[in-house]
Amino acid sequence: MRIPVVVSKIIQETPHVKRFTLKPQLDQSLPRFHPGAHILTYLHSGSECFVRSYSLTNCPSHDYYEIAILKKVRGSGGSSCWHEHVKRGQTLTISYPRNFLHPDLSAKHHVFYAGGIGITPFLSMMRWCRKRGASFELHYSAKTKHDCAFYEYINREHPDQTTFYFTREGERIDPGLVKQHRIGTHLYICGPESFQNEIKTAALHTGYPKGSVHLESFVQLHSDGFNNPFTARLEEKIINVNQEDTLLDALNKEGAGIPFSCRMGQCGTCEVAVKKGDIVHRDSFLTEEERCSRMLPCVSRGEGVIEISMK
Ligand code: FES
Repeated sequence: MRIPVVVSKIIQETPHVKRFTLKPQLDQSLPRFHPGAHILTYLHSGSECFVRSYSLTNCPSHDYYEIAILKKVRGSGGSSCWHEHVKRGQTLTISYPRNFLHPDLSAKHHVFYAGGIGITPFLSMMRWCRKRGASFELHYSAKTKHDCAFYEYINREHPDQTTFYFTREGERIDPGLVKQHRIGTHLYICGPESFQNEIKTAALHTGYPKGSVHLESFVQLHSDGFNNPFTARLEEKIINVNQEDTLLDALNKEGAGIPFSCRMGQCGTCEVAVKKGDIVHRDSFLTEEERCSRMLPCVSRGEGVIEISMK
């Protein structure tokens, strides 16, 4: 189910990041959300519909949602469409808020590692920590102060908990820092894939339990960077999926006619049922329960031989 919203305000946060305020239409209200939540936005441009995930950056008690979008130079068009075509007063639809990342209630200390626009899910999580008196710190890396989204806000609200690293000034987050956090710390990492992998690897080598290291799911797609070939059975057909192809592409080359939209595991349009076999799930759409019997072939893959159906 989708929610219609109106773009009520647009702020140029940095030269490459814009903030968009989304308000409900007329007498409607928006569902409450939890810290770390994100929404899917459905933005139409000509015959295309860009489906993208964005974290909610505002306070959950507000009667609106706010998202912040980095314009990607070599992206697939979604962020450019937001930056270049979306105007105040425009209407669009969004999903209900979803949470794959949230503060762990058992943590004795929360440490947020943000790379660039990866700061966005942490804004509401840090507010939550402050409100509950939970101990936290932020390590935030950006190219320059000028490119650092929410720099003034963070400096004002969390000056004692934050360390900024400006890479153009030769500063960088040392993954070895994870050794210095006390026992019972939970790590939350969001940023470019290499940034996430570096910190996650350092944490696991240091001995953090897997459950204490949290990555923002919608940027961890393809995180192992490796695609095994595998075989899929669909009714009478046997389809070999090579390393370069997605299962979606392989199925549609065989004439399966599976509909799709985002091709990023975010919208659920390409969902198929899994009857047999092991799946490597790489989407940010299905719940753990749904993953027992469903998969999104635009990003997820099988291991060995799997059996799927369109139902
Ligand atoms: S096309 Fe959107 S999840 Fe596969």
